[in-house]
Amino acid sequence: MNFSTINTSLENNIFTITINRPDKLNALNQTVLNELNAAMDRVYTDENIKAVIITGTGEKAFVAGADIAEFVSVKDDEGASLSKKGQDIFFKIENCPKPIIAAVNGFALGGGCELAMSCHFRLASTNAKFAQPEVNLGLIPGYGGTQRLTMLIGKGKAIELMMTGNMIGADEAKSLGLVNYVEAPENLIPKTKEILNLILTKSPVAVSKVIAAVNAFYDTQKNGFDEEVKLFGEVFLSDDKKEGTAAFLEKRKAVFK
Ligand code: COA
Repeated sequence: MNFSTINTSLENNIFTITINRPDKLNALNQTVLNELNAAMDRVYTDENIKAVIITGTGEKAFVAGADIAEFVSVKDDEGASLSKKGQDIFFKIENCPKPIIAAVNGFALGGGCELAMSCHFRLASTNAKFAQPEVNLGLIPGYGGTQRLTMLIGKGKAIELMMTGNMIGADEAKSLGLVNYVEAPENLIPKTKEILNLILTKSPVAVSKVIAAVNAFYDTQKNGFDEEVKLFGEVFLSDDKKEGTAAFLEKRKAVFK
């Protein structure tokens, strides 16, 4: 696939999607969103892809937000559809059955913070900075940020960050639970790969059901406990469960297909 605003690479079953507009701090314009959507379609269908990293080009920005310059050409009554389009792509990331980690390598502002939050979890470089600064523009987060930031760090701090637009650094993001690890910039991708390589030794069926079960907690249409029962029933039928339990009893390492 040829993309103009993202780079993709596949190495040892880990697919890296790099948002690549460094001159605009990797801001999300419509082309980036469309290409991200197409890349995610490939993630769902390509059996060689078993895990994903989403990051940004350079050491300055992960993604500095939605492309503000593009807002000028969006008609006043097209805001809702713009928001819905972004939300749908980010749902595709959040609900992907393969593990997806955001490697936040600099500014993650507005839509950038929202993109990172749609990933299953996040690592940050020491120079990463997070904010939902939409109030400065007379806007609110529109790609799921009002919901996911609240889910991740709780209402009090989330609403403060969205009302003030204040920027927080990587260490504060970690203490709030927004990111799981803070790494030196040169260690960010290696550490992300190390975690994904560990996950890739586990049952892919079970990992996909963990994603579905945890996401059910946040889905008002679903009862998470009922969903867990259903998903547990499904993994119990799987070849991975047969292999995992047999390997334990035979005192050997499980080999999942
Ligand atoms: N949309 C469009 N362009 C953006 C952008 C965005 N969200 N964020 C940065 N850019 C562009 C700048 O316009 C500039 O382009 P130019 O060189 O053609 O003028 C380029 O990226 C570099 O940004 P600059 O502002 O010069 O870098 P800086 O180091 O002085 O400041 C930021 C960095 C992140 C603090 C600043 O760019 C910023 O506040 N960006 C907007 C963040 C935001 O509000 N995001 C939420 C959008 S909903």
